[in-house]
Amino acid sequence: MKRIIFAVSMAALIFSGCQKIDDVPQSEAITSEIEISDDILPETTVPGTTSFPESKTTFKTEDQTEFIPAEPAGGDIEESFTEETEETLPEETAASAAESENIPGEDENISEVTDIPAEETDNDGLTYFDGILIVNKTYPLPADYAPGINGEAQKAFDKMQADAADLGLNIYISSGFRSYDYQAGLYQRYVDRDGKAAADRYSARPGHSEHQTGLAFDLNTITDEFKDTDEGKWVAANCYKYGFIIRYPADKEDVTGYMYEPWYIRYLGEETAQTVYDSGLCLEEYLGITSEYAE
Ligand code: DAL
Repeated sequence: MKRIIFAVSMAALIFSGCQKIDDVPQSEAITSEIEISDDILPETTVPGTTSFPESKTTFKTEDQTEFIPAEPAGGDIEESFTEETEETLPEETAASAAESENIPGEDENISEVTDIPAEETDNDGLTYFDGILIVNKTYPLPADYAPGINGEAQKAFDKMQADAADLGLNIYISSGFRSYDYQAGLYQRYVDRDGKAAADRYSARPGHSEHQTGLAFDLNTITDEFKDTDEGKWVAANCYKYGFIIRYPADKEDVTGYMYEPWYIRYLGEETAQTVYDSGLCLEEYLGITSEYAE
């Protein structure tokens, strides 16, 4: 029986290996089928068909910059939710099968494929995977965490902005650091306007926004149209060179928990951003982690 499990596991590993698994910590091999819960997919809300009546309302960021709140991205919700994922390959099964078979050379292979990044929580209550600070629907920040804009991220942005300006492009931060309380107010306004289920698709609940880390920036106009502007195209193609990723890419809502936000970048540092960019994965896939509210 162990030999059969091992054979099946090895076949799955070889199949996974064909998909450039070497470059990825583990996520592709350990992806289970994703189910969408009702509170993320509202019964009556379908992008492209739902109207968000007051979507041109402007808000002020904490630095008093006015911005237009996010609107739902266009696109086909069916498509993103029916995308097939790989079968679950529990790492314990593969590892223990190899161990019991004791096949030379196989152990190294398996540990490469199933090397789940360690989750670490520091004294401030921040969660890291692979040294990357993670904030999403699963992993919150403490309410009193308020570091302001990260200096390194700001510097990287300044350089990106200057290089873009040399090309005649105007990129600017329309929303940077946001405190827990500010996010609470913002989220509540979206809930009041669009309902909780819809708001949860584009706005983080307080304590769950990366803006609170000071490492995430909204750029320019916070609308879907940004992706079609020269600035939006340039940012998408080049931000990784400055250490940023497009944090909520198109067609990844079922993984990131958020609709496509072409204006939203997250600082990871140049090396990590390049690796994540090259992988073609969103950050949750890259690290093999979830983004789901507990309730
Ligand atoms: N728009 C992103 C998800 C936030 O609110 O942090």
